[in-house]
This record gives sequence, structure tokens and C-alpha cells, in this order.
Amino acid sequence: MDSPATRRDFLGLALGAWATTAAAGAAAAAGVSLWPREEPPATARVGKSALKDGRATGSLRGVPFVLVAAPAGPLALSLVCTHARCLVKWNEGERRYVCPCHRGTFDAEGRVVSGPPPAPLKRLAVTDAGDAWEVTG
Ligand code: FES
Repeated sequence: MDSPATRRDFLGLALGAWATTAAAGAAAAAGVSLWPREEPPATARVGKSALKDGRATGSLRGVPFVLVAAPAGPLALSLVCTHARCLVKWNEGERRYVCPCHRGTFDAEGRVVSGPPPAPLKRLAVTDAGDAWEVTG
């Protein structure tokens, strides 16, 4: 036979679960999410004087990117591989970004050249802010 304390604990838990479900249902019915849907975009500044050989790296929320001063205009790419999120590195000899995990490769504009990555490297928005580039993503 259950002790009164155990029954009371069970009823408390059941009531708590019911209240949580009811609150989530009411919020959903009102079109409100209890959790934020998406973080707003972050912006990083990369000083134009920081470019070495036309490249500089930075990070957005701790996620590294590369900014390249390409002839057609600045290009910013996430350095996170689209296969399993390893970090790619630029290989000057191959003129490609190479992923060390499964040897996926990407061309200078982030397009998949070989290996398992299912999508190109993510492009980030770049705006000219005078003495710096602003990278947003
Ligand atoms: S994580 Fe980059 S190729 Fe698999």
C-alpha cells in the first residue's frame, strides 16, 4: 500500500505536468512560443588593415568565418563544414577549403568540390563600414 506522502508526491507531479501542458497549449493557441524561435543575427567587424594576403578570420557567436577580399567584392564564409560541422581550413596549394574530418573540399567561393558535404559553406552578408567590413550572419 502507498504511503500518503508518496500519493501526495504523485499528485503534485501530475498536477505540475498538467499545468505545464495547459500553459504550453494556451500559448500555442495564442500564437506565442514559450521559447525564442531564432536568435537575431550577429555582426562582427573586421578591420580592413587586418587582412593578410587578402584574408582575415573572425567569429560570430563563437563560430569562425573567413573574410576574403575577392576581386568581385568581399566574400565571407562560415568555416563550419556542412557535413558534420568540423572546421575547414584554407589550403593555398590546393586553392580549396579542406575539411580534416572526412576530406570534404570546397572551392574558394565555398562550393562543394568533393567528399560528403551536402551543401556549400554558408555565405555571410558583408557590408562596407569605412575602415572595416561588417559581417552579419
Ligand atoms: S565533417 Fe567535413 S567532410 Fe565530414
